[in-house]
Amino acid sequence: MTSFQPEKRLHVITWGCQMNVYDSARMTDVLRPLGYRPADTADQADMVILNTCHIRDRAAEKVFSELGRLRVIKETRAAAGLPTVLAVAGCVAQAEGAEILARAPYVDIVLGPQTYHRLPEMVARAARAGGAVIETDFPVEQKFDFLPDATGPQLPGGVTAFLTVQEGCDKFCSFCVVPYTRGAEASRPVASVLAEARRMVAGGVREISLLGQNVNAYHGEGPDGRAWSLASLMRALAELPGLARIRYTTSHPRDMGDDLIAAHRDLPALMPFLHLPVQSGSDRMLAAMNRGHTADDYRRLVDRLRAARPDLAFSSDFIVGHPGESDADFAATMALIRDIGFAQAFSFKYSPRPGTPAAGAPLQVAAEVGDARLQELQALVRQQQDRFNADSVGRSMEVLFTGCGRKPGQLSGRSPYLQAVHASGPEWLIGTTAMVQIDHMLTNSLTASLLPPVPSPVSDMPRANPLLERACA
Ligand code: 5AD
Ligand code: SF4
Repeated sequence: MTSFQPEKRLHVITWGCQMNVYDSARMTDVLRPLGYRPADTADQADMVILNTCHIRDRAAEKVFSELGRLRVIKETRAAAGLPTVLAVAGCVAQAEGAEILARAPYVDIVLGPQTYHRLPEMVARAARAGGAVIETDFPVEQKFDFLPDATGPQLPGGVTAFLTVQEGCDKFCSFCVVPYTRGAEASRPVASVLAEARRMVAGGVREISLLGQNVNAYHGEGPDGRAWSLASLMRALAELPGLARIRYTTSHPRDMGDDLIAAHRDLPALMPFLHLPVQSGSDRMLAAMNRGHTADDYRRLVDRLRAARPDLAFSSDFIVGHPGESDADFAATMALIRDIGFAQAFSFKYSPRPGTPAAGAPLQVAAEVGDARLQELQALVRQQQDRFNADSVGRSMEVLFTGCGRKPGQLSGRSPYLQAVHASGPEWLIGTTAMVQIDHMLTNSLTASLLPPVPSPVSDMPRANPLLERACA
């Protein structure tokens, strides 16, 4: 498409979750018709977007410190006659928009996650008015109906991509800011998701991770006018020629329906790795957190999933030091971890989020107690993760090759379990899957050898990314 706009440069800084990575790509898409092309650094950019995360710890301070750095860049450029539009997006913008404009008046635009489709209009308004523009409402229209088509994958290499299918959350866990920053739970229509997936595959993507804060609560309108579940959506995606792998994240145990469990049994493209946050193994804490299930409910759910797909590996999120957490509650969490055996887990010390119910709750846990529990939990999780990786050695598994490795002749890829794998092989394997045998475990990756028969070059598949046409070093 030809643009009659003069070329301008855009630099996006992304913090936080995978959905922010996706959102940053979509903001780039929405600004492209205005003439904006990516810039590697802020000092080369006519517009800078800071896409922020509010989930834990000193989120606002981090934003103000980064804004201080960007202010210097903006002033240096202004002195050279180069104006810079500075925008703050994401969940901190949503939660603390007014505060940002008060403390950082050099910011031109503050926009929440539900208003990205209005960005071109905001840029125009900021230019016209010469003052700050703030958009943190939850508009009645769905932003996905107004965003332009996504132009491609968001990760360098382009073999894997995120695709947001659902956003927002109605669960209101006691500790969590997401229902306030991302708004009410909403799903994209099936046709729009499938169209975006088709474009991704045509651009060379082989693995799509479906994203949502509560992705398994997905209930997008189907072509038949009915609400489709995530399982139905994935059954349709699995039919797309060229799409080798499907993942989804993040799920809530309460929304793990029978058809989703069956999809793990029935769909070979659905990878046997599930991120299923449980947060705590204590029923008392799970109730205080408003999670809506018990620790045994979670154990039973894992059993049912393992019965459906025996090689399924689990990942989870844990919070230690939630208000009211006793030693016994923490011991129950450790017991649950031992019972399940996780391939990976993310654990956090509870951090009070302004406006959430737990922030004002009595019996806040002392910081040192939280630190000690976190260390103990992380040591156990690390042990389990190491064991999982060590058990992979000697196994054969399919790897999706995503790019060049660090050493000459080496390729890098990922296993079904999201492990980083390196193997020697021809470059044209990038963008394809091949069977390997895992040889060794390194600190953060596995090394492997290709197993015969090595697939032959496929010429009719589009290459993922023009960058990949270049030889690996
Ligand atoms: N404090 C600590 N961890 C939190 N998380 C969400 N909110 C908080 C908080 N206030 C963690 C949860 C969630 C993950 C994305 O971040 O474990 O699953
Ligand atoms: Fe936050 Fe709970 Fe919703 Fe997850 S389910 S986004 S933790 S409120």
